[in-house]
Amino acid sequence: MKFRATALALALAAGTTVVAASLGAFAQGKPADAVPYRKAIFQINKWQMGMLSGMAKGDIAFNAAAANKATAALRDASMLVGDAFPAGSGDGETKAKPEIWQKSADFAKAVEMIQTAAKAAAATTIGSKDDIGKVLPALGAACKNCHDNFRKS
Ligand code: HEC
Repeated sequence: MKFRATALALALAAGTTVVAASLGAFAQGKPADAVPYRKAIFQINKWQMGMLSGMAKGDIAFNAAAANKATAALRDASMLVGDAFPAGSGDGETKAKPEIWQKSADFAKAVEMIQTAAKAAAATTIGSKDDIGKVLPALGAACKNCHDNFRKS
C-alpha cells in the first residue's frame, strides 16, 4: 500500500512537473524581461514600416522581395505582441500604460487589429508601389490606435 501511495505521489509529482514545464514554455519569463523583448518587437515593426512607407513615398527604391519580406515580418511580429505584456511588466523603463492590464479586453482588441491588418498585408502579393498603398493604411492605423490608447507619449 505504502509503495503504491508513493508511486502515485511520484506520478502526480511528475505530472505536475510536466504541466509546470509546459506552462513555463507557454507563459513568459520574468516580467521585467518582457520590456526589452517587446521593444525589440516594436523596433522590428518600425524598421519594416519604414521600409514600406519609404518605398511607397519613393524615398526607397521599390523592391518586391523586400516589400513582401516586410509584410511577412510584420505579420510574424504581430503574432508575438499579445504575449509581450505579461502582468507585472508595467514598471521601469517602459511607456506601457496601466490601461493595458486594467482594460485587457480593449488591449486584446488592439492586438487583434494589428494581427488582422498584418495577416491581410502578408496575404497580399506586393508587386508594385501601388500594392503597398493598399496595405499600409490599415497597418499604420493599427499601430496608431494602440499607441494612442496604450502607450505613454
Ligand atoms: C497592441 C498595441 C500596439 C501595437 C499594435 C503597436 N504598438 Fe508600438 N508600442 C506599444 C506600446 C505599449 C509601446 C511601449 C512599450 C514599452 O515601452 O514597454 C510601444 C512602443 C513602440 C516603439 C518604441 C520601442 C522602443 O524601443 O522603445 C516603436 C518604435 C513602436 N512601438 C512601433 C510600432 C509600429 C511601427 C507598430 C505597427 C506596425 C506598432 N508599434 C504597433 C503598443 C503597440
